Amino acid sequence: MKTIIHNATIINEGKEWLGSVVIEGEHIAEVTDGPATDLSGYDQVIDGTGLYLLPGIIDSHVHFREPGMTEKADIASESRTAAAGGVTSYIDMPNCIPPTTTLEALEEKHRIAAEKSRVNYSFFFGATNTNLETIKDLDPSVVPGVKVYMGSTTGGLLVDRERALYDIFGNSPLLLMTHCEDTDIINQNIRYFKKRYKGQNDFPVRYHSRIRTTEACFASSSVAVKIAKETGARLHIAHVSSKKELDLFRNDIPLEEKRITCEVVIPHLMFCSDDYDQLGCMIKCNPAVKSSEDREALRHALSTGIIDVVSTDHAPHLLKEKQGGALKALSGMPMVQFSLVSMLELSDKGYLSRPRVVDLLCHNQARLFKIGQRGYIRKGYYADLVLVDPDANWQVLKGRYYTKCGWTPMDERTFKWKVRRTIVNGKTAYCDGIVIDGVRGKALRFG
Ligand code: NCD
Ligand code: ZN
Ligand code: ZN
Repeated sequence: MKTIIHNATIINEGKEWLGSVVIEGEHIAEVTDGPATDLSGYDQVIDGTGLYLLPGIIDSHVHFREPGMTEKADIASESRTAAAGGVTSYIDMPNCIPPTTTLEALEEKHRIAAEKSRVNYSFFFGATNTNLETIKDLDPSVVPGVKVYMGSTTGGLLVDRERALYDIFGNSPLLLMTHCEDTDIINQNIRYFKKRYKGQNDFPVRYHSRIRTTEACFASSSVAVKIAKETGARLHIAHVSSKKELDLFRNDIPLEEKRITCEVVIPHLMFCSDDYDQLGCMIKCNPAVKSSEDREALRHALSTGIIDVVSTDHAPHLLKEKQGGALKALSGMPMVQFSLVSMLELSDKGYLSRPRVVDLLCHNQARLFKIGQRGYIRKGYYADLVLVDPDANWQVLKGRYYTKCGWTPMDERTFKWKVRRTIVNGKTAYCDGIVIDGVRGKALRFG
């Protein structure tokens, strides 16, 4: 099977140009400059006129909830919504049931994904206070890293003993990705508000940002950076949410040389605490969305080299679980379908260039996790591609997004950019509102 996508504006490796991409089987066979002159000899011709062609998005932070929480979401449903958002590969987190903290649990997720995932997949392994020996045995070509919950969030995973943290940081052969929020500070803030509002066992959701504060994030992130520097660990801090934490990272060396990197996620780039009035618990997430000033600082840091990758932290819950306030409603929001269109919107607003969008969503994800043969439009690489329309002006409405939980805080929002087609390993997985059902992804390989 030989396919040509012709006459598209290709965005790749810092450049934008009019050209064509030829796909043979699962791989990119050719990347050319200028309009294609001869369209004969192809089994399929895809007209890219007026559209942009990018490498498929790699989302390295999602919670697809399988196994164990499939009433919220599952690998089949969420990989469909991923495909609709231009996401061709994802890395899923270990806080499902059972948690991915044993080799058996990891193998079970691979088995389910091989059968059901519409796009390429991989899985973080979860650290506990006691599973370091298993971590040492993980296969680095299959496992992208170890997730360390240094603060509590959805699911019970937590590594709260300093001894265990030093052991893991000092001995993990794999990258460590941390959730950083200081549980003591959070609990202290909860106690303060409970005392102030005697008898109340929940508060309006806007208090979430006053409980899970910048101080709680900074204290925990600082500890992670300190232990990483002392032990030489390869540390990647998840969902940095405040201006203050940005000072913990550097931009004077290439990504490949960094031992400490960070991720920012779409919820903290698109929402801030002013939005609680309108969106309530739909935007309740951990770490909490912070002030508009924090959001502005994160947006500006997208183009400075401080932020290494942008992911979504796609975290579906049922709407009924999002009832209540700062203490009772569950944290997390479904986002995987909206990373590309959101980032292109931020680019239109002048925060970053379009090639920089591709760096953060595609190239840097592949570089940071050393994902083989993906993340770039290059001859010989897997044909993971996305075609986007710059002038669609569409509205997010029920029926146009596919997360199983059935809601998103993006509901009713209008986007100028729209994903038209997503190609995974050379096959169209999504096209104009239709997820093609037979397509299956592959396990990512690292190193
Ligand atoms: C995530 C979840 O629900 O799994 N929730 C969230 O608010 N981000 C957990 C997490 O990433 O901390
Ligand atoms: Zn987290
Ligand atoms: Zn998460």
